[in-house]
Amino acid sequence: METISIGLLGLGTVGSGVVKIIENHQDKIMHQVGCPVKVRKILVKNINKERDVELTDILLTGDANDILDDPEIDVVIEVMGGIEETKNILLKALNNKKQVVTANKDLMAVHGAELLQAASHNNCDLFYEASVAGGIPILRGLVDGLASDRIVKLMGIVNGTTNFILTKMSQQQRAYEDVLAEAQELGFAESDPTSDVEGLDAARKMTILATLGFSMNIGLEDVKVQGISNVTDEDILYGKQLGYTMKLIGIAQRNEEKVEVSVQPTFIVDSHPLASVHNEYNAVYVYGEAVGQTMFYGPGAGSLPTATAVVSDLMNVLKNMRLGVNGKGAIAPQFKKKLKEPDE
Ligand code: NDP
Ligand code: HSE
Repeated sequence: METISIGLLGLGTVGSGVVKIIENHQDKIMHQVGCPVKVRKILVKNINKERDVELTDILLTGDANDILDDPEIDVVIEVMGGIEETKNILLKALNNKKQVVTANKDLMAVHGAELLQAASHNNCDLFYEASVAGGIPILRGLVDGLASDRIVKLMGIVNGTTNFILTKMSQQQRAYEDVLAEAQELGFAESDPTSDVEGLDAARKMTILATLGFSMNIGLEDVKVQGISNVTDEDILYGKQLGYTMKLIGIAQRNEEKVEVSVQPTFIVDSHPLASVHNEYNAVYVYGEAVGQTMFYGPGAGSLPTATAVVSDLMNVLKNMRLGVNGKGAIAPQFKKKLKEPDE
């Protein structure tokens, strides 16, 4: 039984979780995919930083090419973040026939179509379940579970940091800055938390959800965005007195042939299930023409929940390897955008 070798890009909040899950759940992984899996090399910025994970027999490197050019590496897992540099790294990984898993919504919302085309061109998988709503299997839920339905509307809380902030401001009357600092400490916030609090992170996730849910080309520039940085204690208290809870809500809905997507702070009536989604938890309401209403709920950020989605994607890659169907879209949620073929 040949061991599958993994090159990990990033060893922060999510990367550490990935190393732990691969190590701690090795028996289950082996049972399901039929071979052992080993993280061989990890790309980091600072190779001298102290780490809270066991790194026996794992090479830490500051050079992505140590991973991308290594013929022994079968799968590249990207959990470093960033857009342009990371896109080039993943394009090289795909062109070098590495299977790819990523948690990077910033990248997928902007360059998803191009990367997926490169993946398919190279007969490689590119899976990105963790990019939306952390540990909730919402992308597969939409693309596989609800494949037969016509989606009418998607509505949800898709940013853990802002939900954590609004929850603590409302329930504990804590100051915005103080709670944001805690969300950063807990690893929920992005390296630049502006994208969380100004709604851009949620907008990127809604772009991915809407693209998959409605099988249409939805660009980030099409999303109307307002974050929570201007929400005051008074706003939250005032809503509370009237029986409403303030949430940062993303909505994508079909309006004739168009899909309208927006993200904004919204008062939700307390009896609505979304009003009881607290802390870093996320929830996505999906309205389908046939199924009616379904809600996907769970931890939307954090080390182990997010890493669960990443390692589950990895296992799907490995199952496809066994069947020889990588890049065939068997399980992959695909963007529908038609780009020019590389040789056109
Ligand atoms: P962190 O900031 O905790 O970790 C980033 C890691 O990548 C670090 O190990 C860092 O190295 C390394 N890194 C960053 N830039 C470079 C670079 N240019 N070259 C080499 N190494 C680099 O990020 P997270 O783990 O929180 O997030 C990773 C990705 O997952 C992001 O795309 C994020 O949006 C996404 N995500 C995060 C979630 C969360 O809850 N945190 C949930 C869902 C998705 P070093 O350790 O040396 O600094
Ligand atoms: N910063 C993101 C959030 C991480 O708070 O939801 C998960 O994508």
